[in-house]
Amino acid sequence: MNVTEVLQCADQLVFTKTGKHLDDVQKSVITGVYQGKTYDEIADDCKRSESRVRNVGRQLWQILSKQLGEDINKHNFRSTITRLNTTSPQIINVASNHNFNFCSSAYQPNNENSNSNVNHKSLYHDLTLAPKITSFYDRTTELQTLSHWLTHQNTRLTSVLGLSGIGKTTLVKQFVDLNLQKFDVVIWKNLKLSQSLDGIITEILKCVNDDCIQTDNKLTQFFNLLRQQRCLIVLDDFQELFIKGELAGEFKTEYKNYQNLLTTIANIEHQSSLILISQEQCQEMISLDEELYPIKCLDLQGLDNTEILKKWGLKDDEAWAEFSDMYGGNFVDLKDIASLIKSIFGGKVADFLKEDSLVVTKDMKSRLTELFKRLSPTEQQILLQLSKFDVPVSREDLRQSLSLSSMDLMNGLESLRQRYLLKRIEGEQVLFDLSLVVREYVRSCCQD
Ligand SMILES: Nc1ncnc2c1ncn2[C@@H]1O[C@H](COP(=O)(O)OP(=O)(O)OP(=O)(O)O)[C@@H](O)[C@H]1O
Ligand SMILES: [Mg+2]
Repeated sequence: MNVTEVLQCADQLVFTKTGKHLDDVQKSVITGVYQGKTYDEIADDCKRSESRVRNVGRQLWQILSKQLGEDINKHNFRSTITRLNTTSPQIINVASNHNFNFCSSAYQPNNENSNSNVNHKSLYHDLTLAPKITSFYDRTTELQTLSHWLTHQNTRLTSVLGLSGIGKTTLVKQFVDLNLQKFDVVIWKNLKLSQSLDGIITEILKCVNDDCIQTDNKLTQFFNLLRQQRCLIVLDDFQELFIKGELAGEFKTEYKNYQNLLTTIANIEHQSSLILISQEQCQEMISLDEELYPIKCLDLQGLDNTEILKKWGLKDDEAWAEFSDMYGGNFVDLKDIASLIKSIFGGKVADFLKEDSLVVTKDMKSRLTELFKRLSPTEQQILLQLSKFDVPVSREDLRQSLSLSSMDLMNGLESLRQRYLLKRIEGEQVLFDLSLVVREYVRSCCQD
């Protein structure tokens, strides 16, 4: 084994136990000890005190001993990990070579976050295509909701939905990191990279069951897997399967087979969960009777925690809430504007707000242009009309100002709602409005 493989393996084992990846000092200890260095030499290498390095080492050996079921210490670490690589290669190889975390049936995970009632057979984790979360803010309620649905209610189909940049992928990855222990198989796929259902199912079957995959009946084998093992499969950027320029959630012809997959996953008995992450909602994600069908949707709203603005070095905390509201709590937009406020206003949010104009940056424009291009002509017309008003508008007012049939208008409004571009205000009659950013973008960039 080379040092990188040893580090990857140790990282997976430590992460499984603590929910945290190795930090720099821990990496230096693993690397140094594997290379036969003394704690003194390692301390020199990583510019820390010898006692600090020794302490970190002691904690590491405790964690690894528990995880591997053997007494590990500085003196036997190299020989033990090398021996396990030969005698139980599944523990080492799969973690290091294929980015999967596999533990043999003898392995009993021991994570504080794990549900002790879960019977673990084996663990395959393929999170190669998932982002690594280095810092995570807020979202306590959303994490609890996901946890309740997926680990207590065994919801089979969960959709996490919302505007681009609102934090869907980050939230789901954080949930996965915290709950790895509760599933036998965890696989993350990104539909921006490959969309073919057959391809995705083949890859999943291959990584779980390398030798015995049959070329026909792959769907049957896949549903058997969902029954036999507790799998968590995440499909990110699900909107890639939908047609651009038509009403929301319309599958492209070549991907209509996903509809069958989703309805079957919701309808048949099994112990697994599928999470869809999408900017657009489709019919198969919605259940009118959640009691009958184990389907759930989480519509993600913007962050309402302004602590992050302090982290970014912004000033004038009394103005933060107004600033955050202005950008709908959208993480990416706030980050973008925060860096502008730092460079132009010396970080003073109040001075930025005094300008009294809503800034839409180049990056924000280009993301909104991508969204705008996905709209049907009817939706574009409705958006343009709505942007002319400064107050919420009723459907009747819209109908009078647009030359659309009542049906087209209703379908267009519903489709914009499914894309999270429309705000609905409930009252005696329902009113429709745009977010400040969308209104400003449409006014300034879409008039042609
Ligand atoms: N709770 C959070 N804590 C820390 N960072 C966050 C959080 N939510 C989002 N971010 C950051 O905001 C950015 C956008 O988040 P993310 O990629 O999850 O959005 P998204 O909703 O998946 O967008 P898209 O639909 O375009 O994929 C990322 O850089 C991420 O690091
Ligand atoms: Mg995303």
